[in-house]
Amino acid sequence: PDLDTIINAHDFELAAQKTATAKTWAFYSSGANDLITRDANASLYSRIWFRPRVMRNVRTVSTSSTILGLPTTLPILISPAAMAKLIHPDGELAIARAAHSKGIIQCISTGASYPAAEIVTSIPSSPTSGSQHPFFFQLYVDKQRSKSAALLQKLHQHGNIRAIFVTADAAAAGKREADERLRADESLASPITGVAARNDNKGGGYGRVMGGFIDPSLHWGDIAWLRAQTRLPLVLKGVMSASDVKLACHHGLDGVMLSNHGGRNLDTSPPAILTLLECHRRCPEVFASLDIYIDGGIRRGSDVLKCVALGATAVGLGRPVLFATAYGQQGVEHLIDILQDELEVAMRNCGVTSLEEVGPWLVNTADLDHL
Ligand code: FNR
Repeated sequence: PDLDTIINAHDFELAAQKTATAKTWAFYSSGANDLITRDANASLYSRIWFRPRVMRNVRTVSTSSTILGLPTTLPILISPAAMAKLIHPDGELAIARAAHSKGIIQCISTGASYPAAEIVTSIPSSPTSGSQHPFFFQLYVDKQRSKSAALLQKLHQHGNIRAIFVTADAAAAGKREADERLRADESLASPITGVAARNDNKGGGYGRVMGGFIDPSLHWGDIAWLRAQTRLPLVLKGVMSASDVKLACHHGLDGVMLSNHGGRNLDTSPPAILTLLECHRRCPEVFASLDIYIDGGIRRGSDVLKCVALGATAVGLGRPVLFATAYGQQGVEHLIDILQDELEVAMRNCGVTSLEEVGPWLVNTADLDHL
């Protein structure tokens, strides 16, 4: 379908389903087992009601914010997702160009289909200020720790990589059946890990085969090791309980990303919005100690506003960005424009003009309280 006819994130999903190869569609869209968490991630947002205020002069609204001290036009991050090249030859390079032109931050996956160095150097520094567009990098810690240490060392050469997101929710790759069932004709290697994405003909989909290098022995004691490897801010991605948010504070992490990997690893793990609500009940003090990010199932600007109201610094988008990449840079730009517009409309109709004004007062979460 023509890009002009696409008016929301769902349209991008339908378009991708039509145009991507069956294997790519299976890899991108699949989740673990019965897809309970993948689908609940998105559907729970429809059970949170706004508490809008009226008569508040909302002629001018601003969606801008900061993430780890970096300015962003929207409280939205591009979540790290492997193998963007499967849907468009420009893959992560197209995403980077769109993120740069729209002023948001892309978190590059360890499983990206372009080398991180190529992605971050593809964006020229500003001709006026000389400043460089920021990126984040997502790290899967390798069973061979020296490889991760060397990778972090290499990334330090690029001053525009400004934080490391360490993924903690992939101790075992999920059983993604749609991905497992389809044999891949193509084999695409991730240049960062050197691991090829291909079926192993033993029931392993792309996800399981590519994840073989990930270290399941990773534990809290390793945070000190990670700190010794990098001076960049460290964010733990894939936190699924208030107890672990507290531990992340205790271990001095700069942030956590509440996430269940888009429901791709542990089916019936909690939708991240429930973990965010659990933090309000069990450890409200954490919001003052570290940044809280959230991803999974965010499809509308109004979903973004609900998360920010509940204390998230920013939200991440995974699949919607991959699906929009079918249209290259323009597609991702169009997706970001749509979300910006939806967020502004939601803010105006809620009676708020900036993200600093929002708080839990803006949402009625009673329907989720017993979950
Ligand atoms: C992912 N995700 C992911 N996460 C991560 O930390 N490293 C990775 O390499 C990947 N790769 C990846 C590939 C694909 C195809 C998908 C769909 C997802 C998870 C991702 O960062 C994010 O947590 C979820 O995608 C968020 O859910 P939504 O927005 O896809 O619903």
